[in-house]
Amino acid sequence: MTNLRYQFKIMKITSFDQYKQVYKHSVEQPEEFWAGIAETFQWKKKWDKVLEWNFKEPNVKWFQGGKLNITESCLDRHLEKDGDRAAIIWEPNDPKDEHRVLTYKQLHEKVCQFANVLKNNGAKKGDRICIYMPMVPELAIAVLACARIGAIHSVVFGGFSAQSIADRIQDASCNIVITADGSFRGNKEVPLKSIIDDALVQCPTVERTIVLTRTRTPVAMIKGRDVWWEDEIKKVETQGNPSCPAEEMDAEDMLFILYTSGSTGKPKGVVHTCGGYMVYTGYTFKTAFQYEPGEVYFCTADIGWITGHSYIAYGPLTQGATSVMFEGIPTYPSPGRLWEIVEKFKVNILYTAPTAIRSLMSFGDDVVKNKDLSSLTKLGSVGEPINEEAWHWFDEKIGHGNCPIIDTWWQTETGGFMISPIANVTPLKPSFATLPLPGVQPILVDEYGKEIEGNGVNGNLCIKFPWPGMLRTTYGDHERCRTTYFSAYENLYFTGDGCMRDENGYYRITGRVDDVLNVSGHRIGTAEVENAINMHSSVVESAVVGYPHDIKGQGVYAFVVCPNKHEDDELTRKDIVMTVARIIGAIAKPDKIQFVSGLPKTRSGKIMRRILRKVAEGDTSNLGDTSTLLDPAVVDEIKTGAL
Ligand code: WT7
Repeated sequence: MTNLRYQFKIMKITSFDQYKQVYKHSVEQPEEFWAGIAETFQWKKKWDKVLEWNFKEPNVKWFQGGKLNITESCLDRHLEKDGDRAAIIWEPNDPKDEHRVLTYKQLHEKVCQFANVLKNNGAKKGDRICIYMPMVPELAIAVLACARIGAIHSVVFGGFSAQSIADRIQDASCNIVITADGSFRGNKEVPLKSIIDDALVQCPTVERTIVLTRTRTPVAMIKGRDVWWEDEIKKVETQGNPSCPAEEMDAEDMLFILYTSGSTGKPKGVVHTCGGYMVYTGYTFKTAFQYEPGEVYFCTADIGWITGHSYIAYGPLTQGATSVMFEGIPTYPSPGRLWEIVEKFKVNILYTAPTAIRSLMSFGDDVVKNKDLSSLTKLGSVGEPINEEAWHWFDEKIGHGNCPIIDTWWQTETGGFMISPIANVTPLKPSFATLPLPGVQPILVDEYGKEIEGNGVNGNLCIKFPWPGMLRTTYGDHERCRTTYFSAYENLYFTGDGCMRDENGYYRITGRVDDVLNVSGHRIGTAEVENAINMHSSVVESAVVGYPHDIKGQGVYAFVVCPNKHEDDELTRKDIVMTVARIIGAIAKPDKIQFVSGLPKTRSGKIMRRILRKVAEGDTSNLGDTSTLLDPAVVDEIKTGAL
């Protein structure tokens, strides 16, 4: 059906005309197109059917009948020819410590070893395993080891609180937790194991925790439940069985769960499956960056987010790439750290987030002036719309005008890039994610779901045809998946983003149209933050909205009704912030808290967020129609008290 020349052409695109041709083909013959791509991966058994789908239930199945283990495409298939190539170059938090290099051979060995540790500790195919770890190679090893034995990983970002972890462990009934004593982040140390201990009080399903040594901070090790990573590795070594056969998985078996926020209170477990996710992340990584073996690629995300799953762990490894993995933060020990890493490892492709760019910009150009960034050939951006100022700074000061900026629009739910330039092919336009990758069919709709055709238009961004990397369900609650993504508009996947399409058909994401904030590229549900604030003992109710923030993109602004607060407002504010950090984690802390005597509500009791958003944005000149409010006087009070 497909031949090698064809596969080569769809993954390696060298001209804009070719992109248009391939795109057209991908829409006209989607099954042939995706089969051609899927054939470039390693399968244990080929699929019987490329695609079966409806967006009603939804029910989406890619590569049915196909058997595989994603780690064979990530590791085993590179061993013979490229076993000695670096897979992961790890840079520690403290630049004075040694960096580590893991070749494909070494990574394969360590993954097999730890997979055997998991088996020794009772892990089986289909188990859910929670991973809460620092950004060390063992995190990637743990993720891949789960995949190796067919266990479903649920990685929780190291910045989440004990309560958030407990919620996630309970939702998926995890039986094993993989963690570390602590993590280093800049000049801070986070006591990961102690946070896990707090979480586990509420998690009776967890029978085992495996604890990696990183900070060697004192930890409680409970007999019968907690074991050390290093001890378990030794046991496997003495058992003398270094290999671990890769479990045979169906293409549609679950690979992992990753929790993400939505407009309602409880985060949902987005489910990705083995076959489609493998094909999609590998394809998009190769295509958008036009990655060539030998290039050094550095993605600054954490594996705790989808960006790290798809573009540190799985996508690059399936393509035999060399990835830099960084434990620390861009500003430690100095704001030149990222550029020093680029210099040190001669990074060719740097993939980072607008919030990091804006933060580093603020330290001035001297920080970058004396750094040798000449190895860079391609740049990438993800997480939120990149503003023009940041785009130009990235282009000029970091790329020296020679590196395309690949502004990748996608989501946890999409698994991989959806709308993105192709490096050195797609003509760029600052702050535009440009055009859909071949295989992706975006459409804009109005509020009734009617397609908005033509160019120079604005609408809600939907996708009208399935792609292999899309979510299949939300864990344990398929109905929630249907209502959240597939019920707003008939037969369409709704992204939650607003979008404009310019005269040339280029797409620019304008931001969320639902009650979801994007703070430093992290998705935070306003309802989630409100629930956390309301847990403070003297809070009656609250409303959270976003406001423009120079570095974070959006900041968290909370209007709080708190009649019995401490006489020192500042202290109450700090108590509320602490409460949110405890319930969700530091990433959701409100930036501003305004105490109000009441919230603007309609007669039916609905909070008028439109008004609160305007106040938070500092634009109180025209609040629109307030006549339907229950108590219009409250608006004046809120206006005068604005922070
Ligand atoms: C939301 C998804 C995708 C990995 C990181 C965030 C926003 C993401 C872009 C971009 C404009 C973007 C959208 C999207 N977003 N990338 N290049 N341009 N907006 O993943 O937490 O699932 O959030 O991030 O609003 O819906 P996520």
